[in-house]
Amino acid sequence: MAQVSGKIALVTGAARGIGQAIACQLAAEGADTALCDLQADWLTETAAKVAALGRRAQCYAVDVSQATAVQNTVAAVEKDFGRVDILVNNAGITKDAFLIRMSEQDWDQVLDVNLKGTFLFTKAVCRLMMKQRSGAIVNVASIIGLIGNAGQCNYAASKAGVIALTKSTAKEMASRGIRANAVAPGFIQTRMTEKLSEDIRKQMLAAIPLGRFGEPEDVARVVLFLASDAAAYVTGQVVTVCGGMVTA
Ligand SMILES: NC(=O)c1ccc[n+]([C@@H]2O[C@H](COP(=O)([O-])OP(=O)(O)OC[C@H]3O[C@@H](n4cnc5c(N)ncnc54)[C@H](O)[C@@H]3O)[C@@H](O)[C@H]2O)c1
Repeated sequence: MAQVSGKIALVTGAARGIGQAIACQLAAEGADTALCDLQADWLTETAAKVAALGRRAQCYAVDVSQATAVQNTVAAVEKDFGRVDILVNNAGITKDAFLIRMSEQDWDQVLDVNLKGTFLFTKAVCRLMMKQRSGAIVNVASIIGLIGNAGQCNYAASKAGVIALTKSTAKEMASRGIRANAVAPGFIQTRMTEKLSEDIRKQMLAAIPLGRFGEPEDVARVVLFLASDAAAYVTGQVVTVCGGMVTA
C-alpha cells in the first residue's frame, strides 16, 4: 500500500526545488496536497505534476512570515480539504554576508521566513491536528543549523532555531498524537545553491564522503518516511541528508 494513502499534506515553498520534490513524493505515495508559496501562479508546475500522479493539488499564495496570511491560508485549507495530516515547513531563504557586514534587515528577513514562518504554520496547523488527535510535522532545517557556516550567521541561527522548535513541538504535542521531526539537508542542487561559485562547489564536493551533491528527491524520500506511519515511533529527531558530510 502507498505510504501516505488518503492523507492531506500541506507543503510550504512548494513551487520549486526541495518543496516541489516533497509535494510530488507525497503525491506519488497517495497524498492530496495543499501547495503554498509566495505567488499562486508559481505553483502551476508543481500542481500539474501532482495532478499527473492522480492526486489533488490546491494552490495558496502566502508569505509564511505573515501571521494573518498564514492563519487565513490554514483556514482555507481546512475549508477545502477538511483536515491536515502532514505539514512540511520547507519555505526558506538565504541572505549571506559576513557577520560584521550583515545588515539588520538581512538578519530579520531570514529569521522571519525560516524560523518565524515555521512557528506560524506549526501553530496554525497544530490547532487542527489537536482536534484530529493525529498529525505529522516535518521541518526542513539544514546541516548549517548544526555546524554553523562563515557568512551565514543569520541562516545558521534560523535553522538551529528550527531544530529547537522541532524538538519542543515534539515534546509538547506527543500526548496529542502529533509527531514533529526535522531533516537537515547538506548541499542539494536547487536554485538556492546555483548561485554559489565554482570554487565553493569544488570545496563542498571534496567534503562529501558519498562524492556527489544531493538531489531534491534525496531529501523528499526522507521527508516521506518521517511523514508516514512507518515513522510512528519517531519524534523530536533530526535526520541529516548530506551524503555523510555531518555524522554526529
Ligand atoms: N538547497 C540546499 O542545498 C539546501 C540545504 C539545506 C537546507 N535547505 C532548505 O531547504 C528548503 C528549500 O530550499 P530549496 O533549495 O528548494 O530553495 P529554493 O529557493 O529553490 O525554494 C524555496 C521556495 O520557498 C519559497 N519561499 C521563499 N520565501 C517564502 C515566503 N516568505 N513564503 C512562502 N514561500 C517562500 C520560494 O518561492 C521557493 O519556491 C529551505 O528551507 C532551505 O533552507 C536547502
